[in-house]
Amino acid sequence: MFKLNNKVAVVTGASRGIGKGIAETFAKAGAHVVCVSRSENVLKSVADAINGSGGSASVYACDVSDLNAYQDMIKDTVANHGSVDILVNNAGITRDTLIMRMSEEDWQTVIDINLKGAFNGIKAVTRVMMKQRAGRIINITSVVGLTGNPGQANYAASKAGLIGLSKATAKELASRGITVNSIAPGYIATDMTDAMTDQAKETLNSQIPLGRIGSPDDIAAAALFLASDEAGYITGQTITVDGGMVMI
Ligand SMILES: NC(=O)c1ccc[n+]([C@@H]2O[C@H](COP(=O)([O-])OP(=O)(O)OC[C@H]3O[C@@H](n4cnc5c(N)ncnc54)[C@H](OP(=O)(O)O)[C@@H]3O)[C@@H](O)[C@H]2O)c1
Repeated sequence: MFKLNNKVAVVTGASRGIGKGIAETFAKAGAHVVCVSRSENVLKSVADAINGSGGSASVYACDVSDLNAYQDMIKDTVANHGSVDILVNNAGITRDTLIMRMSEEDWQTVIDINLKGAFNGIKAVTRVMMKQRAGRIINITSVVGLTGNPGQANYAASKAGLIGLSKATAKELASRGITVNSIAPGYIATDMTDAMTDQAKETLNSQIPLGRIGSPDDIAAAALFLASDEAGYITGQTITVDGGMVMI
């Protein structure tokens, strides 16, 4: 499989779900993984498990929507681990409701975490990666950012915005050896999707040609490939990992 030996990876939203899966997979591939979210104690148990099974991980509590906090986290990571080679902007939330009922706060909070959080991350690592003349940035968007979804105007806008952010920064940073790509997961079994009604889950399930719900490992495998040296000629792309749910 693809190797990440001697690489330092920052993975946001690593306390559970897809981010935790990516952190574990990157550590297995040889990277030191800085696990980031707002919950230090939960992150510690993720990092302890990685360190206990022969990998290397540390934790950093940070709200990705806060640019100053994000910049401090990247500065500390470089001071403690020497570099940031890979950034995975995975932290995300939903605040689902129909547009008629959506409050300004529901809108803004989702945009601040899902989209501005990734902007903060890219801004914070760009100088470090430009100096290294190498880097991998992976943004976790969603199939909903490609298709739209009723009840998710805020979330779909944030995820479509992430795709535009990835493409623009891919073009800006390519000459410095930095690639920027997105992964668009479909229906993945995590706490986020556990909150859906049984009927919504059944409807989604019936739309998956490969006949199963995805797992965090399915997304982690795509992230590992995009983070690897072997993916060095791929930038500005969105890889959909959804069991065939959305084919464009
Ligand atoms: N599950 C799916 O089917 C699916 C499909 C498409 C896309 N996605 C995307 O995949 C990503 C991960 O989703 P998931 O299903 O794994 O969700 P999840 O289980 O709810 O986990 C979300 C993660 O984001 C972190 N987080 C939330 N707000 C944060 C903030 N302000 N600062 C730092 N960390 C924050 C959470 O940690 P704390 O609460 O500890 O801060 C948690 O680790 C999200 O971007 C989501 O939109 C998921």
